[in-house]
Amino acid sequence: MDYLDMMKTFFLFTTIFIFNLGFLEAQKVPAVYVFGDSLVDVGNNNYLNGTFAKAIFPYYGIDFPTKKPAGRFCNGKNAADLIAEKVGLATSPPYLSLVSSKIKNSNRNVSFLNGVNFASGGAGVFNGNNQSFWKSIHMTKQVEYYSQMYEQLAHQIGASTLQKHISESIFLVVIGNNDIFDYFNSLDLQKNNTPQQYIKSMVSSLKVQLQRLYKNSARKFEIAGVAAIGCCPALRLKNKTECFSEANSLSVKYNRELQSMLKKWQLENKNLSYSYFDTYNAIQDLIQNPTSHGFVDVKAACCGIGELNAEFPCLPSANICSNRQDHIFWDSVHPTEATTRIIVDRLYNGPSQYTSPVNMKELLHVSIAKSLFPINFFILLSLMVTCYQIKVK
Ligand SMILES: *[C@@H]1O[C@H](CO)[C@@H](O)[C@H](O)[C@H]1NC(C)=O
Ligand SMILES: *[C@@H]1O[C@H](CO)[C@@H](O)[C@H](O)[C@H]1NC(C)=O
Ligand SMILES: *[C@@H]1O[C@H](CO)[C@@H](O)[C@H](O)[C@H]1NC(C)=O
Ligand SMILES: *[C@@H]1O[C@H](CO)[C@@H](O)[C@H](O)[C@H]1NC(C)=O
Ligand SMILES: *[C@@H]1O[C@H](CO)[C@@H](O)[C@H](O)[C@H]1NC(C)=O
Repeated sequence: MDYLDMMKTFFLFTTIFIFNLGFLEAQKVPAVYVFGDSLVDVGNNNYLNGTFAKAIFPYYGIDFPTKKPAGRFCNGKNAADLIAEKVGLATSPPYLSLVSSKIKNSNRNVSFLNGVNFASGGAGVFNGNNQSFWKSIHMTKQVEYYSQMYEQLAHQIGASTLQKHISESIFLVVIGNNDIFDYFNSLDLQKNNTPQQYIKSMVSSLKVQLQRLYKNSARKFEIAGVAAIGCCPALRLKNKTECFSEANSLSVKYNRELQSMLKKWQLENKNLSYSYFDTYNAIQDLIQNPTSHGFVDVKAACCGIGELNAEFPCLPSANICSNRQDHIFWDSVHPTEATTRIIVDRLYNGPSQYTSPVNMKELLHVSIAKSLFPINFFILLSLMVTCYQIKVK
């Protein structure tokens, strides 16, 4: 090959490389299945009877496109909405809205394939304190709903079609925050479990549920650790408006335990991939460096009553801040949409200090890259033939 041929080959290779990158970027995940708590509930709790854990009053939803309460525990869109935006899909609808008898949707089975959200405000890995007025759908029940849906769909569209669809979909899991709250709100829990015992048992319960999802074809998991819970306005009240360090240190321990479980879990199961997101440090960074992100108030809730607006809930009679962009917290425990946007951007695009072993964007491409291999091989082969022809001329 002379110099010119080499340049041609190089040019071809570069073109193909860029073409492949473009192709990878264009790939879409078929669906997102969501499990978790109020950080990702998009309206399941509205279908529960006799629970106070519902975002149905103003000022919830004040910045949502409809400007009305939308079942999100936020002023606007929550993490489930914003993650759907990142992958170019509509927000996965609440499971209870899909099965509700009110909706006579003749295409219900198809809509299950577009993604489903099983998350429920107040939910934890454990079943919780079970007080009827704070009822929610705990993790075990969420996975039970998923399993029912899975069996129905397998019946409907066939096991192998379903397996392919589910194994390429993203399973978003955001849970554990409420279990940590519960621990500090229950003297019984503290009496019967050391912090270490409690988080170990949380992690092993979660693993059982993740394994049930895996058994029903889930392969790609986006798993968020718990937040810096001690820094939310509600728990700041326990420490003269400073972060409550016991809750933070339990959160850190839980996240460490969770990550080591995930590493082992991946080794135990074929074709399993996950991205762990360090919610704790992603939010701590905003609390410690607020001004570079346009935040002014890192302590108080935007909406609520009393000290830090955190003594009473965000109800129509509560105070509401005028600028929701400059508050990290919306109510006594939930972040604003402004905060959530930054957090979701970190979850998706990664810097590796917050995501491991990959970020969500990389997670989407894990098996797609594999399935591209035959195409690459074919293109390479024709390239070699072309080069040969150039040389012969
Ligand atoms: C709530 O109550 C209504 C009316 O009694 C009932 O039809 C519905 O199934 C209940 N929802 C749940 C989730 O139990
Ligand atoms: C919670 O309450 C339901 C029904 O009221 C009961 O079936 C369930 O066993 C309770 N769970 C726990 C953990 O106490
Ligand atoms: C959806 O699946 C269920 C369970 O297999 C089936 O009974 C029902 O007819 C299906 N609905 C549609 C519209 O295909
Ligand atoms: C209260 O906040 C201070 C300052 O951040 C911290 O040093 C202390 O450990 C905290 N105390 C509790 C009980 O959280
Ligand atoms: C792993 O992926 C390969 C190739 O796609 C497939 O043949 C195999 O059945 C998968 N194994 C499991 C346990 O999912």
